[in-house]
Amino acid sequence: MISDGPDKPPRRGASALPPGVRFLPGHLDAVVQAELIAAIREIVRQAPLFSPEMPRTGKPLSVRMTNCGPLGWVTDKVQGYRYQPQHPVTGKAWPPIPPPLLDLWRDLAPIAPPPEACLVNLYGPEAHMGLHQDKDESTFDAPVLSVSLGDEALFRVGGTMRGGPTTSFRLRSGDVLLLEAESRLAYHGVDRIYPGTSTLLRQPGRINLTLRRVTPS
Ligand code: SIN
Ligand code: FE2
Repeated sequence: MISDGPDKPPRRGASALPPGVRFLPGHLDAVVQAELIAAIREIVRQAPLFSPEMPRTGKPLSVRMTNCGPLGWVTDKVQGYRYQPQHPVTGKAWPPIPPPLLDLWRDLAPIAPPPEACLVNLYGPEAHMGLHQDKDESTFDAPVLSVSLGDEALFRVGGTMRGGPTTSFRLRSGDVLLLEAESRLAYHGVDRIYPGTSTLLRQPGRINLTLRRVTPS
């Protein structure tokens, strides 16, 4: 749902989104969602979930994560935010990006070069993600393409300046969202999860997949 402020009724639609945010509610049907969950189970077998840490403080983020693709996004106390070709714990290469996600990228970002990283974020019922920009890539030409699976999340997105106005709405299982053009560096985050709003996963929680191009083509 989209709400323009505490006293405005929430809406689900695209009209109040910041420019450059492309929201495709219900873009992935139940069959594709189930295929993606099966693919993610296999990815997690090969590249186990790890607990990311904030740079410098070492405070753990509330999500657990893994990656697929030639590069994966990782963070820890000592080295901070970065992309690397190996899993930080096993030292092995990340598994490949599943074909349905590559197809989705080609459909929705036909002129962008192929994605190099697919971050898999697992949100438990209490997890959230603070407002941030995705800016660890060395190119911002391609969009960030995000897929929601499982329980609903309250997503917040604003402009490119910290502290500016934001819009909040729910992301549901099967929704796809792109941050592109003037919103590529928009601040965004997840304020909360609504446990029990989807039966896709075996346990309460949410999976977010984020596809990104990391290097210039
Ligand atoms: C992220 O910004 O990395 C995740 C966004 C989301 O979970 O929808
Ligand atoms: Fe992000």
